[in-house]
Amino acid sequence: MTGRPHVVLTRRLPTAVEEQVSREFDAQLNADDRALDVAGLRAALRAADAVLCTVTDRITAQVLAVEPLKTRILANFGVGFNHIDLAAAKQRGVVVTNTPEVLTEDTADDAVMLMLMVARRAGEGERQVRAGAWTGWRPTHLLGTKVSGKTLGLIGMGRIARAVARRARLGFGMQVLFHDPFPPPPEVTAELGATALPSVDDVLRASDFVSLHCPATPETRHLIDAPRLQLMRPGAFLINTARGDVVDEAALVGALQARTIAGAALDVYEREPAVSPELLTMENVVLLPHLGSATQETREAMGLRALENLKAFFSGAPPRDRVA
Ligand code: 8YV
Repeated sequence: MTGRPHVVLTRRLPTAVEEQVSREFDAQLNADDRALDVAGLRAALRAADAVLCTVTDRITAQVLAVEPLKTRILANFGVGFNHIDLAAAKQRGVVVTNTPEVLTEDTADDAVMLMLMVARRAGEGERQVRAGAWTGWRPTHLLGTKVSGKTLGLIGMGRIARAVARRARLGFGMQVLFHDPFPPPPEVTAELGATALPSVDDVLRASDFVSLHCPATPETRHLIDAPRLQLMRPGAFLINTARGDVVDEAALVGALQARTIAGAALDVYEREPAVSPELLTMENVVLLPHLGSATQETREAMGLRALENLKAFFSGAPPRDRVA
């Protein structure tokens, strides 16, 4: 390769990141921040040595089948990479990296925020105030559900779930249960004061709040389906900051309509940015637009971590966050 590697950024990134990437590489920025369609992604893979991509880029086997393929690395901005066909990338000799760790605390904050919002009816209350419909304080107004001292069930016990467990136990005196097919070592579980249960079903049956923290894989698609929603307590709430397709959104709508669970708080959706229209009308549902890592500090850290992976790759060193 002659000159600096050509890197396509598929979306706008924080200015500090764009400046840094532009200093290190021959960078092509996306000034109008429009997500690339299939043709745009294929053009990027034909033209760029590297693509710095995001969750809005569906890099399928069909996209990766482009000829001639110039791209040698997909540096994903984000920890989740279910939008990239890893098997196809591997088969085409394309390295894939992600940005773990830097977004753990913010995403845990997001899960706790959702738990509090749905339990304490924060969205409902805010809508009421903004609509000028608040008639004043009264003892029975917008009574929610107590969070402190309740039981939180975590599905998955990776980095983000552990950060949620710490907040729940230390901040709210909650009992923390979890299931993970690949559980952390016993000393980690003990340090968190969390209790491992043998199955997802056991966690669903025993929890007042269920928070999802597993990756989106073929195995976890619709992990929370209609039968599993039936296992949840009638007063329980579902929180999802992981990926939309871990939940069967239609089944969730059904459970909420039948009131077999008390509510749901979602940051992610099966068909983002589309949201099942029924959810939009439900007061006992909190809906955020995929904000898990959305702080200035963290989005900069994610960008710089992606840059670090690119620099390692092009210097011939193994990128530390290689996932394929
Ligand atoms: C990002 C996320 O906003 O990292 C993830 O997996 O879901 C979010 O923090 C998103 O991935 C950006 O590509």
